[in-house]
Amino acid sequence: MTTPPTTRWDPAQYARFERERAQPFFDLVARIQSRAVRSVLDVGCGTGELTRTLADRWPEASILGIDSSEAMLAPARERSPHPRVTYEHADVRTWRPAEPPDCIVSNAALQWVGDHARLLERLTGWLAPGGTLAVQMPHNDAASTHTILAALWRDPRFAAALGDPPPAVRVHDATWYGERLLALGCDVEVWETIYLHRMLDAGAIVEWVKGTALRPAASRLAGGAWEGFLAAYTERIAAAYPAGPHGVWFPFPRLFFVASSNR
Ligand SMILES: C[S@@+](CC[C@H](N)C(=O)[O-])C[C@H]1O[C@@H](n2cnc3c(N)ncnc32)[C@H](O)[C@@H]1O
Repeated sequence: MTTPPTTRWDPAQYARFERERAQPFFDLVARIQSRAVRSVLDVGCGTGELTRTLADRWPEASILGIDSSEAMLAPARERSPHPRVTYEHADVRTWRPAEPPDCIVSNAALQWVGDHARLLERLTGWLAPGGTLAVQMPHNDAASTHTILAALWRDPRFAAALGDPPPAVRVHDATWYGERLLALGCDVEVWETIYLHRMLDAGAIVEWVKGTALRPAASRLAGGAWEGFLAAYTERIAAAYPAGPHGVWFPFPRLFFVASSNR
């Protein structure tokens, strides 16, 4: 029997596609121009694997990773300490930094945090003069992985047990972020990339989604119901992402921006 993942973040499940998930982080960081960086904040740092690489990117800088999940932070804290990297259990919606960071990086985290208008205002407001905010978020609400999940949530076989779907966080169009950041007094670069991941089969796509978007459904369904839901989801995913001679192509759209404060 498959064990349902919990609503809490599961670092082991999340790490299963580590290489694919890391590439957008490196693509984001490569676009940051700032030279004199002495302090970096990683918002939603997760298990800290990627946070640590920021210490190599800026050898003079101190790096602080914050995350609202103790489960995700645990591996970060267990790893051998780095003299310039620290972690704090904190929710970006209520926390604020003690000192203005020169650079704020956030990879694959802000899509979990609501009210992006207010969030951008907060994050750019934290920056030191001339500082940089660099963000990557999945932009996949319209992807089959998500539309199938939404349809199954309404399916009479599961609807009663699932209850209301979790409130959706709105990731806006790329131009919305460009306009907002310009209005907040930043220079901004915005771009989108569709990563085409070659997966073994449809089951591998389901395993990927189990680490993120499937977590709320998994937490609300008990044993047999979770099995049934997963079987229905897998069947539809297999139809939406057909197998070819070399596996299954899994397109994954992501949105990026790098904003430099003019203050
Ligand atoms: C998909 S993981 C990304 C982790 C890491 N940045 C990476 O790229 O591997 C998203 C992370 O955002 C964190 N997160 C979600 N909402 C948050 C909030 N309000 N404040 C701080 N962290 C949050 C989650 O706990 C999770 O560790």
